[in-house]
Amino acid sequence: MLLRQEGGMTAIQRDYSLAGQETPRAIERGLANAQWYRPPIDPARLRELSVRTNGRAAFDTLLWLGLIVGFGALAWTLRSSWWAVPAFMAYGALYGGASDSRWHEMGHGSAFKSGRANDVIYYLASFMLLRGPTQWRWSHVRHHTDTLIVGRDPEISFPRPTSRFDIALFMLGWKSVVPLVRTMLRHAFVGLDENTQDYTPEGEQKAVVREARIYVGILGVAIAWSVATTSIWPVMFIGLPTLYGVWLVVFFGLTQHAGLTEDALDHRLNTRTVYMNPVFRFLYSNMNYHVEHHMFPTVPYYNLPALHAEVKQYLAPPLPNTLAAYREILTALDGQAKDLAFELPLRNLPTGPDHGGVGTVDVGVRLWGSPGVDLGAVESFVNGEIRRVDVEDATYAVYRLAGSEIVVTDGLCTHGAAHLADGTIVDRMIECPKHNGRFDLRTGEPARKPVKEALQVHAVEIRDGRIIIEPERARPRA
Ligand code: FES
Repeated sequence: MLLRQEGGMTAIQRDYSLAGQETPRAIERGLANAQWYRPPIDPARLRELSVRTNGRAAFDTLLWLGLIVGFGALAWTLRSSWWAVPAFMAYGALYGGASDSRWHEMGHGSAFKSGRANDVIYYLASFMLLRGPTQWRWSHVRHHTDTLIVGRDPEISFPRPTSRFDIALFMLGWKSVVPLVRTMLRHAFVGLDENTQDYTPEGEQKAVVREARIYVGILGVAIAWSVATTSIWPVMFIGLPTLYGVWLVVFFGLTQHAGLTEDALDHRLNTRTVYMNPVFRFLYSNMNYHVEHHMFPTVPYYNLPALHAEVKQYLAPPLPNTLAAYREILTALDGQAKDLAFELPLRNLPTGPDHGGVGTVDVGVRLWGSPGVDLGAVESFVNGEIRRVDVEDATYAVYRLAGSEIVVTDGLCTHGAAHLADGTIVDRMIECPKHNGRFDLRTGEPARKPVKEALQVHAVEIRDGRIIIEPERARPRA
């Protein structure tokens, strides 16, 4: 649809689907799976910030769940008076709103140290939001790969033009929850839509259908319970809170990317960091540090303020508060409603090194008269360090684990364009810096999605204190 023609320039409403003309265009322009800007950071400090603790995540999660139960009990107690309205509003905001950032953090697997705890809360929060856990895991992987790239990112929630009226429709659920219900019913009874097929691997598509049917079953029981008892209360506690709490998802979600530059390979141009008060930060799990999260998704939410302090010199100035963020968002959306090509004034980006990775790159040497490759001195590594070492056109990740054990793997993640030396070690696994996929460092086997293909682990020999591998010789799998 042609929306504007002015001075020979035309702006055309873009096709935000993943199966339209924008998709091949994005690929041709090198915007898919591309390398993104990352500011420099001391690798040792990043390792420190990437450490997860069960205690902190458990405290926040129990507080959130406790508040849901508390406000639910209050709403039930007050159900015959108008005082139930604010109690249900709080219950809905916690159930259908604050669950969004919990879903997000657990989906990245970065909140708890325990993978199982992350998964349990991820599944619970997914249901509260009516998001299929498998479908949305893959959708979010793509969002991190191709943030705000039109035709590639399935999570562009506010495409151009988004009017103020549209925002009201999002907050009321018409443009947010209703499409989710439609998708759930379609997945349960008809099959996967084109977008979901695009980003969900074939082997996982059955799980999408199964989960949609489970959701339909649970909601069906709640509805049947309400009908059988001719009472609205069962669905007021299960199902409807997704609808009457979604305004909080939209309230925070708008601050992430709305109105910012599309098709830019730099999160400083398409993502916002906004300073928020402690209550908002609890409800939103510190996702107001959204630029930092996109650049370093291995850092758990509770360490994002500290990460912000480390890298803020390289970022655009954060918005000082939520009100300022909304002023900026409305300026952008109002401008784009009149002119699709409208952009906010260029953000004041500090000049600094464009750094695709974290640490420095060492160069190894091929040994004369042997197939061996020298990757450096053991002594030059500290415990817990990971370093990238390049040898001719090959790149490796060299790890010094606790007890001074040296492990060498291929450098690049088998899932995408990320160097594992920028990742973090979690219980003898390397976690990729791009989508939090993991490999077992003993065997190279995938240990967490989205990685599916094993990583090459090389046999290491220590000769005179030097780390030697023979890359042609595959290490036998344990
Ligand atoms: S690039 Fe996706 S998990 Fe590594």
